[in-house]
Amino acid sequence: MPLWTFGAAYLAGSFPTAYIVGKANGVDLRTVGSGNLGATNVFRTLGWKWGLLVYLVDGLKGLLPTLLLPGAVGAAGGWPWGVAVGVLTILGHVKPVFLMGKGGGKGVATASGVFFALAPVAGAFAVLAFALVVSLTRYVSLASLVGAAVLPVAILVQAGAVTPLMLVSLAISAFVFWTHRENIGRLLRGEERRIGRGSSTPS
Ligand code: G3P
Repeated sequence: MPLWTFGAAYLAGSFPTAYIVGKANGVDLRTVGSGNLGATNVFRTLGWKWGLLVYLVDGLKGLLPTLLLPGAVGAAGGWPWGVAVGVLTILGHVKPVFLMGKGGGKGVATASGVFFALAPVAGAFAVLAFALVVSLTRYVSLASLVGAAVLPVAILVQAGAVTPLMLVSLAISAFVFWTHRENIGRLLRGEERRIGRGSSTPS
């Protein structure tokens, strides 16, 4: 596994899609809505078309390097190099080098791309859980947390054993809970905003 691959994975994850889309529309997304540089904040600020575009690009930032970088996904289902590449794309998305530490996403879209490459069935279950919770509650953050919690369980059930990939997915799930710590506070206080019809205010 060539060393440059790790740098390439981190740089790919760092591509600041939401920031660029925001700036192209005359807004710094770090100063509006939740302040997050992710698809949800693009959705609430600029509309669903831009939000979908950002989700797709941020997902591809995880999917393509994990699938395509030399030595990434291989015979062992991506362990260890595909997993390392995927983790680095998620870290790049959350702490993008291009923004000098000032803003990033919460890792959900990029992680979904990574796990579509590493564990597609479990990834699909997590996305289904996400979609179900969004449709029932219209809280994207809650849906992200539920999807993150479902992922390691789905990998465990599918493998029938605790595997290295399952443990890494558990760590990524915990990381996503950490990136959502402010959302969790707002959910607990009843202050989180919903998306779509009748969505109201704060944050
Ligand atoms: O993936 C991010 C989403 O779960 C929450 O986004 O903008 O409401 O903090 P936001």
